Amino acid sequence: MNFKRRIGRVAEYLVENGFDGMICTNPESVFYLTNAPFVTGSAGKALYISKDGKASLVVSSLDFEEACDRSEGAEIVKMDMGEPLFERLRKVAGGAEKVGFEDDFVTVRSYGALKKKFSLTEIGTAIEKMREVKDPEELERIETALGASDRAAAKTISNLRDGMTEIEAASELEYHMRREGGEALAFETIVASGPRAVYPHGMPSKRRASGGEAVVFDFGVKASGYCSDTSRTFFFGQPRDEMVKVYDIVLEAQNAAISAARAGITGKELDGVARAVIEGHGYGKFFVHGTGHGVGIAVHEGPSVNSRNEGQLVPGNVVTIEPGIYIPKVGGVRIEDMIVITEGGNRNLTRFRKDRIVV
Ligand code: GLY
Ligand code: MN
Ligand code: MN
Repeated sequence: MNFKRRIGRVAEYLVENGFDGMICTNPESVFYLTNAPFVTGSAGKALYISKDGKASLVVSSLDFEEACDRSEGAEIVKMDMGEPLFERLRKVAGGAEKVGFEDDFVTVRSYGALKKKFSLTEIGTAIEKMREVKDPEELERIETALGASDRAAAKTISNLRDGMTEIEAASELEYHMRREGGEALAFETIVASGPRAVYPHGMPSKRRASGGEAVVFDFGVKASGYCSDTSRTFFFGQPRDEMVKVYDIVLEAQNAAISAARAGITGKELDGVARAVIEGHGYGKFFVHGTGHGVGIAVHEGPSVNSRNEGQLVPGNVVTIEPGIYIPKVGGVRIEDMIVITEGGNRNLTRFRKDRIVV
């Protein structure tokens, strides 16, 4: 990947907006700009980018070797033991005064320390915006992640049994996701059965799924730092008529939105396509979330496919299409694929089957 080019684009942004430099502390954006691995839980790490396009990755001794081995396009600066990050950033930034920072990724305490050293201005989501358009190599990584989760799902369904617990089902799926090449889970696997399936983010429990209940599985892995995100709903035993109907409506809504997705449609319009199908069948109040979201280094990123996004989708956006119907005390269904927007329409990146599966 061309990290120098990405850093160059940030530098152009800094010049255009009158910044001398910026401090990047969102670990996903640091990864996007330098290929340096995420170091979760490590406070001592930041990327400084000057308006001249020089990138300096400031790390503790703990992360130094890995940062040197993995990062591209940035010099690696090792802090002295016990040296506060903001002190080193001040040295790295030379005479810079007006410096941007990512307000979503700086604690109140760090802000207090940094503002004694710099004239700080919030930079908002400029880098997140750049990440919304994927290049071919990013798409390849996303497809690798999806390949692992698709194959894992195929292997898992033959091992699902009426009467097994949600945790047992999740562990089966997670085992296969690792075996198929997932380097990490993209998020905590969701398995929610029967009345619990109305929790869109329901964590697997000891509840046993049976008696024709719908069970929502939502799962994904990372490959070379990029995420997959898939939902499928399986029936444990022969389903009741109402849930069969709900399944078919969700699938109809999802297919309608996938057919409508193309460059130029807004997130709001695309959300409206899925919502109209569900509303048309009288289930509108049970579709309690947006239709989709961008996926990349983060499992949830821009652009959103919901009623608040009036921006148009563009080629290279990778978004989920994941309508759902959740009827309290009864059950829920969600079906989720990932698509990439192209000039003339889109390409569905998820291959796993969507017909009604009864285990
Ligand atoms: N995996 C969470 C979601 O689909 O948004
Ligand atoms: Mn999902
Ligand atoms: Mn999703």
